[in-house]
Amino acid sequence: MVDTTVDIKTIAEEFARAVAKPARRVNICAGTGCVANGALKVFDALKSKLQQENLPVVVNLIEEGEGAIHISKSGCQGFCQMGPLLTILPENILYTKVKVSDVDQIVDETLKKGTIVDRLLYKDISTGKNCKGTDDIPFYTRQTRRILSLCGNIDPEDIREYIYHDGYAAARRVYCEMTDVEVCNEILKSGLRGRGGGGFPTGKKWDLARVEPGPKKYIICNGDEGDPGAFMNRSVMEGNPHSVIEGMMIAARAIGADEGYVYVRA
Ligand code: FES
Repeated sequence: MVDTTVDIKTIAEEFARAVAKPARRVNICAGTGCVANGALKVFDALKSKLQQENLPVVVNLIEEGEGAIHISKSGCQGFCQMGPLLTILPENILYTKVKVSDVDQIVDETLKKGTIVDRLLYKDISTGKNCKGTDDIPFYTRQTRRILSLCGNIDPEDIREYIYHDGYAAARRVYCEMTDVEVCNEILKSGLRGRGGGGFPTGKKWDLARVEPGPKKYIICNGDEGDPGAFMNRSVMEGNPHSVIEGMMIAARAIGADEGYVYVRA
């Protein structure tokens, strides 16, 4: 039998070692808006340029990435109107409206010499100043991101990165240490409510489902963008899909379901 506690801890520790090895990370937004504006072509061009220049590059984090440049794709970073976006860490430089033709300069100036390419920075229209990244762009500094906190910062296709950020620890806890009643009570106490407009207390909803008799229960994740022009469900599902799966697992534990579906129309 797999010891889940040890496995999650080991995965997180191994990932922590791997993520510390590259000298830099270049994170290209691969959300729908940026992809529509050519982000994947920018990613491919960047990879080719780094290889041409004989710079060590890793796409999937592996232990041998010492001193390399780690290039990754993220979900939506939120600032879609300025995409394609490209973030360079650890400096936290955010380049906006990046095109394939910008890649040579990004590599030559920033990745080789550490110089910022001013023309690719976001200019704050109220002050006229260039903003280096999310720490000084008003769009980001005015937000407190909770559900979207990891969206745009992690590789959504790498489960290890989600686990590294405490992913699946709560699911492990509810399955190994809590009863269904305790889960419902904990969620009720947290004050979590539905975000569809009615604001119904989630713990109450789960408890009502829990006490329903029946041989089989399902978890249905409603990922439908019911409001015109809404993309918040897509942002979470594309940018941090494991958080959706973990939430479904926790809800399933609370109500006694053993099967789940995600509902999306487009
Ligand atoms: S799709 Fe790239 S910022 Fe939203």
